[in-house]
Amino acid sequence: MPILEVNNIKKTFESNKILKGISFSMEKGQVISIIGSSGSGKTTLLRCLNFLERPDEGTIAVHGETIFDATLPEDNAETLREKRLHFGMVFQQFNLFPQYTALENVALAPKLLASTESNDEIEQRALVLLEQMGLGNRIDKYPHQLSGGQQQRVAIARALALKPDILCFDEPTSALDPELTGEVLRVIRELADKHTTMIIVTHEMAFARDVADEVLFMDNGIVLEKGPAEQVINNPREERTRKFLSSLN
Ligand SMILES: Nc1ncnc2c1ncn2[C@@H]1O[C@H](COP(=O)(O)OP(=O)(O)OP(=O)(O)O)[C@@H](O)[C@H]1O
Ligand SMILES: [Mg+2]
Repeated sequence: MPILEVNNIKKTFESNKILKGISFSMEKGQVISIIGSSGSGKTTLLRCLNFLERPDEGTIAVHGETIFDATLPEDNAETLREKRLHFGMVFQQFNLFPQYTALENVALAPKLLASTESNDEIEQRALVLLEQMGLGNRIDKYPHQLSGGQQQRVAIARALALKPDILCFDEPTSALDPELTGEVLRVIRELADKHTTMIIVTHEMAFARDVADEVLFMDNGIVLEKGPAEQVINNPREERTRKFLSSLN
């Protein structure tokens, strides 16, 4: 059974049709990369998956359970919060809490959630996650004491701390200097090697080709082309995909 099934998602802003019927599914452990030109709707799609936007039409199912159906009334805030936990989100701007250390940033949300874990257990887990991100010696630092690449790795640990089914990235390296991009891409690649289910919106084509199983090319609110990463990026079928890829060089 797919871990995620997105069916016919549509979203209009102020009479502009931004998503015109997006459908795709993915299996547990799969990595999907979403590419496409500016304004094609990539961020809007991720925001719909995380219930930051409510789609006008369509359904979203996780593990076969429909968690969103546009024909049904809106969930209350509490239910939305619970459903949102299926997805982890890492944004372009790391959005860490400036007044908290790296460790506190990672441990905060799990502590706030009613859970069976003790605070000690949560902090221990946060520590392990930060170590995995190569930040074992930075746990007591505040965001302003960390480089952009380090902050983004804290943000990844923070998303993982909530044990999402699917980890979503929206251009995770585009706010970083080129020399800091590599360290963030490296930890995402390690997560892929560990079969973390991920959706990665990126402009890094070489990275998408290497790390993703499938690539979705979005154009003007639709998935114009979808296929194995290597095929879509090295040998696209659609003229529009070819044009987009050559415009990047
Ligand atoms: N809340 C909103 N209200 C009105 N228009 C919006 C809103 N959010 C997004 N849009 C519009 O939707 C379109 C798609 O935006 P989106 O951010 O999804 O594109 P994108 O593919 O992520 O682009 P980029 O590569 O530049 O990040 C844009 O024209 C944008 O102005
Ligand atoms: Mg975007």
